[in-house]
Amino acid sequence: MKMDLETLLAGLRAGSDPTRLRLLALLAHSDLNVKDLTRILRQSQPRISRHLKLLHEAGMIDRFQEGSWVFYRRKSRGPGAALATEIAAFVDLADPIVARDRERFIEIKEERAAAAADYFRARAADWDRLRALHIAEQDVETAMLEALGDRRFGRVLDLGTGTGRILELLAHRIDRGLGVDGSQEMLALARTRFEKAELHHCQARFGDLYDLNFDAGDFDAVIIHQVLHYLDDPAGAIAVAARMLAPGGQLLIVDFAPHEHEFLRDEHTHQRLGFATSEVSGWIAGTGLKLLKARNLAPPRIAGKTAITVTLWHAERPAVATINPALPATEPRIRPT
Ligand SMILES: C[S@@+](CC[C@H](N)C(=O)[O-])C[C@H]1O[C@@H](n2cnc3c(N)ncnc32)[C@H](O)[C@@H]1O
Repeated sequence: MKMDLETLLAGLRAGSDPTRLRLLALLAHSDLNVKDLTRILRQSQPRISRHLKLLHEAGMIDRFQEGSWVFYRRKSRGPGAALATEIAAFVDLADPIVARDRERFIEIKEERAAAAADYFRARAADWDRLRALHIAEQDVETAMLEALGDRRFGRVLDLGTGTGRILELLAHRIDRGLGVDGSQEMLALARTRFEKAELHHCQARFGDLYDLNFDAGDFDAVIIHQVLHYLDDPAGAIAVAARMLAPGGQLLIVDFAPHEHEFLRDEHTHQRLGFATSEVSGWIAGTGLKLLKARNLAPPRIAGKTAITVTLWHAERPAVATINPALPATEPRIRPT
């Protein structure tokens, strides 16, 4: 990749420092915040922040605000990213300083995994009650894979990614997965999942799905799995998803069919008790996407209970752009890497 002299010099300067080299090695595949990096590098916070600023200005790392935290990760696109990758490739992972950094990094990863396990344990009973009402998640996942067919996808956006399970499911057939969620607890779980499974091409980002900072048409597939029923404007979310799709891109929505389990509203903050197939299909058509298939997955009969049907809506953005120009544009807030 060619770059102008100024970019090249800024990159070379940014790379010519031992702490910044260690940072480039650490930030290759993980999101870390200043507190994590202070712990790993054993340097003061202002010092680490200064180094991070320089790397960021040289276009080598991304910075993501998540509430009061800021996370960093090596950039994956652009001239700064190419230079950072080249420079970091020279770093010998067996070097004692680099190896010690890695050990401390693994300690942090293990702590995150333990916190994630606690979070799940605390909610396990609630989730089991909910899960017992509908078809097994594994069957839903199989249906999702079937819907997407054999195709390989470049960039995939998972709106309301939660614990990142859906990106993990699709990881083997995508080049890059980006999950957006508005809950920091969920994002911590997603990051732990990606790190444990070594899914370095998947990332979790804090953000509001109504207010994304991606370019229109930037994704080959968008997934909205079990999110719509939490939203006050599900049609608006579908419009955002449609706008994010490249021509030929696929939208897959999975949610509940209409049901009568009021406790989900009261105890689980569901805004909607499911959606009629025609309602979601209408919203999809209104965005200019073409509905390919709506499929109901009815649960086996459960004694004494009304079980919930899960519905999959699979749509495509036509190769010739027909996205409704009247739909609201999304305002920039977070950048894809
Ligand atoms: C039931 S979880 C589903 C998670 C994931 N899609 C899955 O199926 O494993 C719903 C997720 O939507 C997220 N969410 C709800 N409203 C959101 C919004 N406006 N922006 C981003 N995320 C949102 C919640 O934080 C939660 O993690």
